[in-house]
Amino acid sequence: MRYDLGKSSILLSSLIVLAASKATTINVSSGSKDAKGPVDPSFPGFAFEQASFYDYAFDECGKPNAFSQNLIKSVLDRTGGTPLLRVGGTSGDHAQYNADQKEPVSCRATACGPFIPQDKTLKIGPSYFEAFKNFPGAKYEFMVPFDRKDLDNTLAWTAAGLKVIDKEALYAIEIGNEPNFYSWWSPKAYLDKFMEFATAITEKHPSLAGKRIFQSLDVASGSAEKLSTEKAFADKLNQNVSSIKQIAYHYYQSLAPENYEGLQKSILHTDTTRRLSGFEDDIKYLRQHHQDIGFVLSEVGDNLGKGGNLAFRNSLATAIWAIDFQLHAMSIGVDRVNFQQIYKPGFCMWEPVNSTHWDIATPMVRPNYYSQPFVADFIGKGGRTKVASILSEEKLAAYAAYEDGKLARIAIVNLNLGKASGEDRKKTDIVLDDLAKGVESVTVHQLNSPHGSLAQTDITYKGLEWSFESKGLQKQVRDDSKTVNIKGGKVTISIEEASAIILEV
Ligand SMILES: *[C@@H]1O[C@H](CO)[C@@H](O)[C@H](O)[C@H]1NC(C)=O
Ligand SMILES: *[C@@H]1O[C@H](CO)[C@@H](O)[C@H](O)[C@H]1NC(C)=O
Repeated sequence: MRYDLGKSSILLSSLIVLAASKATTINVSSGSKDAKGPVDPSFPGFAFEQASFYDYAFDECGKPNAFSQNLIKSVLDRTGGTPLLRVGGTSGDHAQYNADQKEPVSCRATACGPFIPQDKTLKIGPSYFEAFKNFPGAKYEFMVPFDRKDLDNTLAWTAAGLKVIDKEALYAIEIGNEPNFYSWWSPKAYLDKFMEFATAITEKHPSLAGKRIFQSLDVASGSAEKLSTEKAFADKLNQNVSSIKQIAYHYYQSLAPENYEGLQKSILHTDTTRRLSGFEDDIKYLRQHHQDIGFVLSEVGDNLGKGGNLAFRNSLATAIWAIDFQLHAMSIGVDRVNFQQIYKPGFCMWEPVNSTHWDIATPMVRPNYYSQPFVADFIGKGGRTKVASILSEEKLAAYAAYEDGKLARIAIVNLNLGKASGEDRKKTDIVLDDLAKGVESVTVHQLNSPHGSLAQTDITYKGLEWSFESKGLQKQVRDDSKTVNIKGGKVTISIEEASAIILEV
């Protein structure tokens, strides 16, 4: 249900008084039947714009970037999953491989930012691929260029990449990016050309033959209707179904909000569920017809576009949106996500090195990063977790994680941002009912900052902080977790505006 905030403030204020005294009750065992999963321990993946990836992989001294390595490890160590790193996007799709180029990229992302194909063509040389050596244990979703339909360029790029990315490290080959923006786009033209390139790649690399290795579609955010999964299979992919590893779409929550009200609107739980519901038929189709083919959101960010206040793009508010988005995605059966990193002050989760171009960019962990250890802890270890949505309101959402049918964890996200100043933050009471008989206490951890929704600093999850100073390793700086006793299977929990909590049962 949606409220019209513009109407009848008198009526609204009296309702608020009522609402404050009436806590929301959640029956926590209600979701166990509908729970989706088991959730892949590799669910929380990362994505990197092509040129940016080099700067995420190396530090200023040309050594493997330990800061980036540790931040990724800190997330996947929590689930025991393999880090899945997608390297690709628009800049790489239009790029050229130049075997004679000494520099890894024609202009580093730290100096030029991401490459906009209309302005400049990214060129990469053989040394670019050294970056793929710097994340031991990770697997790659390796994009190769496609839009120009220059098969020689694609094959040279693929060969240079596969020299470094060995069989163990190659998760998928993605051919092209957001094809619905190509000048030559039609579903048929795209699918025919895609399979022609996939076949040519397989002929050059016979070890790929007969393997599920290709990632297809990668349709742009907000354009899923341009090519449904069912249509893609019916029209073409069914002819080569054993070569398809996963189907991907891209997802950005909104355009950069212009003001605080716009930020609040852009992160509403009901907006996230509405947008994600556009993928439910695609997921259902794959589960019914192609059990072994994954469904992923391979390029994800909170908001796109230029300008805007940085705090509207990367703050406590967007970090808690990222939690709600991921938990809802897993509750409808999305297999994995890759959160996009671009070297440019904006939505990325961390800046890996100093920049000569972006004046405010020094190495740092951005607020959005904090969603990832939270989401990973919610998934937990062991690969047995099933997830269900147990509360779905406009600004309040809760999810339950079950292991072997038994409630293991609950996450609650309060997407009511409160005042922009961060003052006078209200709490919402939630009654958790129908906890199992044996449960005597729960431990509550929070993701929060004393500065409120627009916080850029002093953000902690479980009292932990990640920073460049700590080299991306977690450091205990606060003690705000607590244990709450349970009586009669029922407990009341308070959650502050613009925060998220996780309860360990
Ligand atoms: C797709 O199918 C055709 C026809 O069987 C085959 O020649 C081609 O090698 C296949 N390509 C891939 C990538 O599997
Ligand atoms: C990054 O820039 C800051 C501010 O100019 C400087 O203090 C720091 O030494 C630089 N770091 C590296 C690794 O060059």
